[in-house]
Amino acid sequence: MAGATLVCVPLVAKSVEQMVSDMATAKARGADVVEIRLDHLTNFEPSRDLVFLLRECHLPSLVTYRPRWEGGEYEGDDDKRFDALLLAMELGADFVDIELKVAQEFVNFLSGKRPASTKLIVSSHNYQSTPSSEDLSDLVARIQAVGADIVKIATTAVDIIDVLRMFKVMVHCQRGLISRILCPKFGGYLTFAMLSTGKESAPGQPTLSDLLDVYNIRQITADTKVFGIVGKPVRHSKSPILHNTAFRSVGFDAVYLPLLVDDFYSFINAYSSPDFTGFSITMPHKEAALACSDEVDPIAKFIGAVNTLVKRPSDGKLIGYNTDYTGAISAIEDALQGVQAKVPASSPLANKIVVVLGAGGAGKALAYGAKEKGARVVIANRTYERARELANLVGGEAISLTDLENFHPEEGMILANTTSIGMDPNIHETPISNHALKSYSLVFDAIYDPLVTRLLREADELGLATVNGMEMFVRQAMGQFKFFTGLPGKFVAGLI
Ligand SMILES: NC(=O)c1ccc[n+]([C@@H]2O[C@H](COP(=O)([O-])OP(=O)(O)OC[C@H]3O[C@@H](n4cnc5c(N)ncnc54)[C@H](OP(=O)(O)O)[C@@H]3O)[C@@H](O)[C@H]2O)c1
Repeated sequence: MAGATLVCVPLVAKSVEQMVSDMATAKARGADVVEIRLDHLTNFEPSRDLVFLLRECHLPSLVTYRPRWEGGEYEGDDDKRFDALLLAMELGADFVDIELKVAQEFVNFLSGKRPASTKLIVSSHNYQSTPSSEDLSDLVARIQAVGADIVKIATTAVDIIDVLRMFKVMVHCQRGLISRILCPKFGGYLTFAMLSTGKESAPGQPTLSDLLDVYNIRQITADTKVFGIVGKPVRHSKSPILHNTAFRSVGFDAVYLPLLVDDFYSFINAYSSPDFTGFSITMPHKEAALACSDEVDPIAKFIGAVNTLVKRPSDGKLIGYNTDYTGAISAIEDALQGVQAKVPASSPLANKIVVVLGAGGAGKALAYGAKEKGARVVIANRTYERARELANLVGGEAISLTDLENFHPEEGMILANTTSIGMDPNIHETPISNHALKSYSLVFDAIYDPLVTRLLREADELGLATVNGMEMFVRQAMGQFKFFTGLPGKFVAGLI
């Protein structure tokens, strides 16, 4: 059933007035439940403050009074805590949370006084690691045995493989963005989201608007396909926004996640279920993705890098593709067509000199694509040996960075920067002098952070045509979308 998982916003304000204001905001933004964190309040007075808080709460409420020994702020004794939690139940709290370590004592304390309308959440927090599957099952059994209505287990995912164990025990998993987002898929009861950045009650919580508006959590069900961008780092990737928006625009039942992966080989072995349907691959895993593919598109094989992996539905085999080269080349072609008087029958790159700066993954994709379009390819790279290897591969020429300074065999050349020089935070750097830049008619930069690099700014000031990395990024995503959904990539265009 869609939306079976409740989205809960923890309230961590220091005053009751601010908490009440945050409650109203959480309700307006679409939360299902608010967690009133009594331990965060300064000068908390149970009989005064609980009456006020629960009277003003117009959403289902979860009351938590977390002690320091379990990661909270409360430093007093358990008697006062138990009294406050009982009072919250009597005042109509929908859920009350108690830690497993003292749950039996709390249940004994409640005996005969427990209002039937309040559900008891028994929670266990592990801030170091995620236990083995056996230990997790044992933990669930112990929590159920104390009489919990809802089991809450929060663990620390040291590696993405840990998250799989949490999916298997079904329960709410407090750490890791992907377990929070996939809660509805794996039958989790409650998932936590912070009201806004800085208002989280535990590390890794997404914001409420990310959960609802980017990841479309209300639409996620057991059948929802899971895609994601695999890399390290992936935090700042724009791919989740792009693909989730595109999926939603065509009603494709899928969610796209950032997947922070250290070891690609163990990740791909562990995430082998058909639920995980396809991946975008970014640095540093494009070569490992090629090695892990059961079948590889010949162009991706030639380039030596896979940026798209799709599980074939009929047999689950992993098919590897590269959409970087079409993304970059089509962006350059369109820009060239824009500055040319009439659209040529062949590619506007045909017979042009394309100087590719860099010989890494993006450099290989650019060099291959330009060659395919009939361009004369020249590679310049910091490590000259790599430039020579790539030039040999595509039948081009290699030059040193020093030679690049006075390289001007003809007019109308194209420069494609595929190094990371000029990328944030080194935004004041550029890979080529202004003097050498004058020899080109069009400059492409694969970097999209910042959108306008120093290289592109200087090219623009010289009156040259420019193409930024976002053009390539959106177009490579269009190619991926087509492989993921079987639908035309045009649904991605124009989303950023
Ligand atoms: N817009 C998009 O969709 C898109 C897609 C893919 C990549 N990119 C961007 O393209 C850039 C390269 O990515 P990649 O995957 O090709 O990386 P990569 O495989 O690591 O290659 C990096 C290249 O940059 C050169 N390089 C790095 N630092 C340098 C420096 N300080 N001075 C001179 N050369 C330097 C390297 O030269 P050596 O061989 O000497 O080490 C190598 O040729 C990144 O900025 C990335 O964000 C953009």
